[in-house]
Amino acid sequence: MTTRLIVFASGTGSNFEALATYFAGRRDVSLVALVCDHKAAPVLAKAKAAHVPTIVIDYRAYPTKAAAETALVAQLPEADGLVLAGFMRIIGPTLLAAFPDRIINLHPALLPSFPGRAGIADAFEYGVTVTGVTVHFVDAGIDSGRIIAQEPVRIRPDDTLATLETRIHDVEHQLLPTTVDHLIEKGVF
Ligand code: GAR
Repeated sequence: MTTRLIVFASGTGSNFEALATYFAGRRDVSLVALVCDHKAAPVLAKAKAAHVPTIVIDYRAYPTKAAAETALVAQLPEADGLVLAGFMRIIGPTLLAAFPDRIINLHPALLPSFPGRAGIADAFEYGVTVTGVTVHFVDAGIDSGRIIAQEPVRIRPDDTLATLETRIHDVEHQLLPTTVDHLIEKGVF
């Protein structure tokens, strides 16, 4: 049996690429679509290179988030789970209801600290000495769902935001694919 996953991303797509590389030789796992909310996002070229079909959804073309999500759900292929890998939108009730307990998100901080759009910079500016990466289930809140996996990253005295970002991303590129793999193994997806 093949586990079918849809990846959601908004920008660069380095985590999409990490997932595509990790699962490339796997017959039991298939990335069946990449959903992106910006038509010029670099992740789209990465999806094409990985032969993953893309769906671009322009939320601004719809009167409400619910209308956009309804249109999106109608376009999605059959899937066992959704992986938000750098998707910069809050998931609404329509999409949550379509995939109950089947949506996970990657966050670049140790939740519940530093939720939101700028987890790396917020931790750096606050001055904590340990931050990290979280993978969690998505619920109706902002980065508030049940935590699945976390990995700490120490902030060094000589770190800049850029050097910290690089180390966070390196950890993300390992933690996200291995966590997805564990969830598949456990039958969550
Ligand atoms: C990642 O660091 C991810 O954790 C973060 O966006 C980045 C996307 O990078 N997500 C969030 O901040 C969600 N609140 P990528 O496009 O290179 O994968």
